[in-house]
Amino acid sequence: MRGYQLPDHDHQLHVALWIFSSTRTSRSCSLVYPMTDTRPTAILQRTPWIPPIAIAADGIYIDLVDGRRVIDAVGGAAVACLGGSHPKVIQAIKDQADKVSYVYNMQLSNQPAEELASNLIANSKGAFELCGFASGGSEAMESVIKLAIQLYKYFGDIGQAQRVNFIGRKLSFHGNTLGTLSLAYHPARRGPYKEHLDSKHFHHVSPAYAKRFQKPDETEEQYVERLRQELEDKFIALGPDTVIAFVAETVVGATTGVVAAPKGYFKAMKSVCDKYGALFILDEVMSGMGRMGTLHAWESLGDGVAPDIQAVAKGLGGGYASIGAILMSKRIASGIRDNSGFWKHGHTYQCQPLACAAALAVQKVIESENLLENIRAQGAYLEKLLQAGLQGPNAPAAPYVFDIRGAGGFWAVEFDFTEATKLNFKGSAFAMLVQARALNNGLLVMGMTGGSNLEGTKGDHIILAPAYNVTKEEIEKIATLFVQSVEEILLQYAA
Ligand SMILES: Cc1ncc(COP(=O)(O)O)c(C=O)c1O
Repeated sequence: MRGYQLPDHDHQLHVALWIFSSTRTSRSCSLVYPMTDTRPTAILQRTPWIPPIAIAADGIYIDLVDGRRVIDAVGGAAVACLGGSHPKVIQAIKDQADKVSYVYNMQLSNQPAEELASNLIANSKGAFELCGFASGGSEAMESVIKLAIQLYKYFGDIGQAQRVNFIGRKLSFHGNTLGTLSLAYHPARRGPYKEHLDSKHFHHVSPAYAKRFQKPDETEEQYVERLRQELEDKFIALGPDTVIAFVAETVVGATTGVVAAPKGYFKAMKSVCDKYGALFILDEVMSGMGRMGTLHAWESLGDGVAPDIQAVAKGLGGGYASIGAILMSKRIASGIRDNSGFWKHGHTYQCQPLACAAALAVQKVIESENLLENIRAQGAYLEKLLQAGLQGPNAPAAPYVFDIRGAGGFWAVEFDFTEATKLNFKGSAFAMLVQARALNNGLLVMGMTGGSNLEGTKGDHIILAPAYNVTKEEIEKIATLFVQSVEEILLQYAA
């Protein structure tokens, strides 16, 4: 893989790990062995190094092939909402495998898919009436794009074939397909594919990130109004009757690091969509299905404004299955039912019975074990511990912590080194150094860079997203190991 220039995030992580391992003696270097594994592999990895092999998972604990046990404080990528090996989910998968493992959705439907769809609709408090399935987040968002095109243009289910434009936001992520990369604006992930992205039909407005982009002399209300006006201006510039939809992550996940919009923002953005007859679409692939402590993030952090269409994925199957879902409001459902009557789109593994059985079991466990209440409480406790450990009066990290933010089971710590002259990370990224050190200390976290300016060239944040059934004691272990890892890196790189 030498000579292959990776996008920023991955490249920086590689550099960070190289620096990290090269600063150790050969004996202590074995401590970072899992990140620098040299075993032969036939897998084309996503990383310039070979990741260690996990051989067992139990709750938030993961056993590695080299005998080490690590704590997964981020659920992989905010996915494993029940941790590993939940007995009820495993039983459901086994039971379904004994019945029907696969049918093709254009020929036959299956019970778990029907039941899962009904479950999602029934639990939406009237927000949704119809559901489609996909095999993950990117596929779900790509399906959302195609559904919206079908609604307006292709089949004209809700009419107006002249509508061709989508408006997304800068500093967003909607997936790694060419369509979703076009819709979103994640500079590092778009980078290598720029020439192949569609800039004719996909347009972008500013992110809703008050702590970085609200002006010093602006109130929150004025900031929201500025963003609303920008969206309206974009509609007008494109031709208001040419816009299919405005699309946003309810809580921005990996790009800026768990950033919720200011109060009133989604209401304001929806008002523009309503004014010009466009769709209001939310991507809750990462922030949905309980991650923020409410089933849908918009219930708590989106002004309670339900979208016309919504994608969910990660917390739907909790990592037990590759699955995503596309949820449609009554208006959309009626548009389709009264017109074309079906979805001109699909994939071979749509409605896959084992995946649907697993996701259904995950959703039932979340409900029956009252896990949203648990993660709200444990999340609040994590916030308290992070604040004390990273921002307390004697905390060495305090001068560098820009923000600790989140809700439920989704938290980010953003660091800022613009004022800190006494640290030299030697060309590496702090967030990546912390991620590597945390793993060395037995903790999986997710380091990200490039979320604090529009160009995606500045910023360090680290995401924590523990399972919804995490205990108080486990939260304490996570906070202790995380703060320790941050402090070790600060100490190591102090000039
Ligand atoms: C908001 C959002 N949308 C879409 C995706 C793509 O999901 P997947 O990686 O399952 O394809 C992600 C993945 O992180 C995401 O965070």
